[in-house]
Amino acid sequence: KKYKLGMIGLGTMGRNLLLNMADKGFSVTGYDKDLKMITKLEDEGKDHNLEGFSDIKKFVSQLEIPRTLVLLVPAGPIVDSVIAELKPLLSKGDIIIDSGNSHFTDTNRRVDELEKEGLHFFGMGISGGEEGARFGPSMMPGGDKEAYNVVKDVLEAIAAKVDNDPCVTYLGPGASGHFVKMVHNGIEYAIMELIAEVYGILKNGLGYSNEEIYKVFKKWNEGKLQSFLLEITAEIFLFKDTETNTDLVDQIKDEARSKGTGKWTSEVSMELQLPIPTINEAVANRDLSKFKSLRVSLEEAFGKNESKIDVTIDELEDAFYFSMISAYAQGMHLLVQASKEYQYNLNLQDIAKIWRGGCIIRASFLENIYQAYNKNNDLEHLFGDSDIQDIIKSHTKNTRKVIVACVNAGVGIPAFASTLTYFDTLTTARMPSNLIQAQRDFFGAHTFERIDKPGIFHADWNKLS
Ligand code: 6PG
Repeated sequence: KKYKLGMIGLGTMGRNLLLNMADKGFSVTGYDKDLKMITKLEDEGKDHNLEGFSDIKKFVSQLEIPRTLVLLVPAGPIVDSVIAELKPLLSKGDIIIDSGNSHFTDTNRRVDELEKEGLHFFGMGISGGEEGARFGPSMMPGGDKEAYNVVKDVLEAIAAKVDNDPCVTYLGPGASGHFVKMVHNGIEYAIMELIAEVYGILKNGLGYSNEEIYKVFKKWNEGKLQSFLLEITAEIFLFKDTETNTDLVDQIKDEARSKGTGKWTSEVSMELQLPIPTINEAVANRDLSKFKSLRVSLEEAFGKNESKIDVTIDELEDAFYFSMISAYAQGMHLLVQASKEYQYNLNLQDIAKIWRGGCIIRASFLENIYQAYNKNNDLEHLFGDSDIQDIIKSHTKNTRKVIVACVNAGVGIPAFASTLTYFDTLTTARMPSNLIQAQRDFFGAHTFERIDKPGIFHADWNKLS
């Protein structure tokens, strides 16, 4: 047996991960039904003599025992059909690592099914796109701890590094790896939406050119807002479409697509009753963007909004920082709740640590998050950390100013607005929700609790004179 690890699915991600592993000196191989993919792998990996197979039996027979198989195939039924094909070829103790964006409930089911056969199934989210896969992704594995130790050296070698620490660690049992990756993507959606809203303000509200927008994002990326998403966003505004000799960004339809991970995050948050409004708005606004013809006709009916927005770039920067912090805080809060509910036993400090490099939501602020959990790993919410409180306090005024200016100008900023309202509500000791309890008890005798004595009460509301 020649190979330590075998990759199934030699698309962009699979090939680049294999090349990354080969660079680090591991003997690895790949399988794909499509011969073209094998040719591509062998071409790109010729320096390492990378070999690919299109015969799954032959491929499996070349692997060291216990066999380690990494799946990089599209999430959904294809994962099940690949597992079904593999099962008869494997033996007890072998490890299958699903590295696609599978739904965590599918992962739960597969873990259980394969456990019966003595096989270890791992859900492992990988973030960082093509570049990340090739030169260092952030990886989020969950499953059997002992099985993890078999692949630990490969994963640590290929992961992105921050201060020499690899951006991968064992996260917890069951589907915890896919769960954490899903929430990562929820945060990714929120930050992308916030940046898009800033773009709308800069372009429409302040009349900035693409070149000027590039400069704003580039400058922000050199300071407290440093992040991968801002960095690539800045570059987008410089990109020319050679065919039309215009900026490519202006030629792209304003209808955002998605593959589901953001929606799943929102669905789970409802299930767990743990609000993440900024992420929800990001999901909803991608969906709203798809109603193009309705938007066009309604703009005609109500008139085009050409109002200018009275804000400065510094105020905008503060509002973005405030909202970005809140997006991370909401995602982390959801992880805390899910960890309790699903017994994942997640270590939030570890998660912040492996998100500092390699992944799409990497940002210098992740160091602040990491430090907050370093001080107190049982922190219920990031807003509870005193250093983060100081940052928030010094950014609230400008955040309000930007949001008020947008509201007055009639510019839609769903993520910004809901983020501020979330903050204002979460920092309110007594909410007006007592009234909801009274209403429920009035029309449905749903009962309520009192602040002055324990017990369950019902009032005879109709007796009102
Ligand atoms: C990552 C990305 C990656 C993928 C998203 C895109 O972390 O590397 O999140 O997983 O680009 O799934 O998701 P949408 O197509 O839903 O935007």
